[in-house]
Amino acid sequence: MKRKILVTSGLPYANGHIHIGHLVEYLQTDIWVRFQKSRGHDCVYFCGDDTHGTTIMLRARSEGKEEEEIIDEMHAAHLRDFNDFGIEFDHYGSTNTLENRKLCSEIWTAFRNAGLVEEKEIEQLYDTEAQTFLADRFVKGTCPKCGKPDQYGDNCESCGAHYEPTELIDAVSAITGTRPEVRTAKHLFVNIEREHPFLDKWVHSGALQLEIENYLAGQFLGEPLRPWDVSRPAPYFGFEIPDSPGNFWYVWFDAPIGYMGATMEWCKNVNRDGLPPLEQFNLWWRNPNAEIHHFIGKDITYFHTLFFPTMLKVAGFSLPFKVHIHGFLTVNGEKMSKRRGTFILASTYLKYLDPSYLRYYYASKLSGRVDDIDLNFEELQAKVNADLVGNVVNLASRTAKFAAQTGLSEVYPDDNGLFEQAAKFGEEIADAYETGEYSKAIRLIMECGYRANKFVEDAAPWTLAKDADKKSQLQDVCTIGINLFRQIVVYLAPILPKLKADTEVLLNDNLSRWDCAKEHLLRTEVNPYKHLLSRADTKAMEQIIEDSKVSDGGLPPNAAGQVPAADNDDDAALQAEPLLTEKISIDDFAKVDLRIARVIEAKEVPEARKLLQLTLSLGGNEIRNVFAGIKSAYKPEELVGRLVVCVANLQPRQMKFGLSEGMVVAAGPGGADIFLLSPDEGAKPGMRLH
Ligand code: 2FM
Ligand code: ZN
Repeated sequence: MKRKILVTSGLPYANGHIHIGHLVEYLQTDIWVRFQKSRGHDCVYFCGDDTHGTTIMLRARSEGKEEEEIIDEMHAAHLRDFNDFGIEFDHYGSTNTLENRKLCSEIWTAFRNAGLVEEKEIEQLYDTEAQTFLADRFVKGTCPKCGKPDQYGDNCESCGAHYEPTELIDAVSAITGTRPEVRTAKHLFVNIEREHPFLDKWVHSGALQLEIENYLAGQFLGEPLRPWDVSRPAPYFGFEIPDSPGNFWYVWFDAPIGYMGATMEWCKNVNRDGLPPLEQFNLWWRNPNAEIHHFIGKDITYFHTLFFPTMLKVAGFSLPFKVHIHGFLTVNGEKMSKRRGTFILASTYLKYLDPSYLRYYYASKLSGRVDDIDLNFEELQAKVNADLVGNVVNLASRTAKFAAQTGLSEVYPDDNGLFEQAAKFGEEIADAYETGEYSKAIRLIMECGYRANKFVEDAAPWTLAKDADKKSQLQDVCTIGINLFRQIVVYLAPILPKLKADTEVLLNDNLSRWDCAKEHLLRTEVNPYKHLLSRADTKAMEQIIEDSKVSDGGLPPNAAGQVPAADNDDDAALQAEPLLTEKISIDDFAKVDLRIARVIEAKEVPEARKLLQLTLSLGGNEIRNVFAGIKSAYKPEELVGRLVVCVANLQPRQMKFGLSEGMVVAAGPGGADIFLLSPDEGAKPGMRLH
């Protein structure tokens, strides 16, 4: 039966570039959509930019631009990155459209009519320096539930508690670093508690992964739901609420409605079956026979599983058929980090590596569960080289060049049931795609590849090709090899669309339908074989990391390529090491002889767990031997040649390993988080710090 399937991915914020963390979701979704399309379903994929909120307003202010200008630039940049990664939307819109505004009004009216909107004066944190109320993400402080410092204003990453920003202990504005003041302002709330019975039922309707059902039942639905604060007072960049001038819908109100807004824009563009846009729209959003699938990250679960379903239900739209929730990306087992060069923008990756590699690698890690996934470049290289180059492409490269001479047989030869076996695997592979278990799909596909390669190996077409009498045998072997390769390409096509397109050219074939894998390709010319995929190279990976590293001394650009506002700064470091209260005179300071020094040699001290032995040049003949406790954060080879800051007049200290004649200056709590200081360009060894 042909299904109608509408698919969305979370809308990326319009104030930052796409990075490899985002790509987990967009690649996961794109693969699913391509799979559904190949199965012949009427599947559409919508996404767009999430444009509203305080961040973009502040950025526009600081750059002296209109918000729209930033939105347009970022829209183009996002589309370029998505396109380069082979992510194909049916429509990529924006939340800042007329269509979205109208849908927001419609849902708002439904809330009003249902008597769910309440007005309250509330206390909110206000940054007097930036002259704005502070959105939850712009406040940091200590979690009121578990006491963990450095938590955002809405929820605690450590204990998962949700709270109001005013409840945070020692709150600080992330924009200016000042202590915000509490001010009162009118806010509009949606009383979602009235829909509690509906949500109780809906979360167990099969739309959610079991772990998510349990999380919602345990964290939210066990007690009354707090009214949802859906308005923000001016100044705010968003849609002004028509019946409440001076107040704006909170970005999380209009963001998910953006999925519907994008649908409406698409309906207007495609003019399908000549139907008026609204009728087309209703075939998706007011049709029990259409499935709505959202792909999102685990951090935005409750917006998509509590608030958005409530909005849809109250306004009479279809409810999500399934919300597919994935975990975060770690790189080499750690959070993406600008310092380590693992906060990698899509565009940086693309400068050095084939997007097919990442598509394949992520797919090989995705299981349909909410677990985080880890990107390890060595593993990526191994998988690409062993599976794609060594198994899949090998099959084509070993047969296609002979097939180009012989063409394919008239009748499919006896292959000991290999083709039939792989054709039967098709349904199991399809089930794995359907349930998001791409890693399983890949395992099954690779098994087909091993069997096919074994066949080619045994049949040795390269030997047959040397004997003119074995031409027909050679043609049969190539026909089998090419057909087994073609099946694999059909199965991998959702993950590797470029390989599919190149294979179509090679075989003069169209491989868009899943069922191609059940049909033989015969009596066809094969085009001269062209290289399909290269081996992954570690140098490229090192280069990506290098390019992504934040340069020492300079302010790091954030994902948006802009110099970060104080929103990246928190006071955790200050809390760990409070400022000293005792004041010193300038003369006291002058007693410390701080000098620029160059590391001319660095080596490990085998008997010392924490120390590296550095030889420092302070210029001329002034050479110092210094033992520094930085082994946990730096490799000796990273240090040679770089400039550091050295305390030059520290009393020399005799240690077990030798005499330490100074100290290099570093910040950070220890372990991997030790940060040496470097001067700006131009500074020379021996210069004194004043
Ligand atoms: O978390 C985010 O990146 C949001 N911009 C996702 C929005 S998804 C949808 F609701 F719009
Ligand atoms: Zn907490």
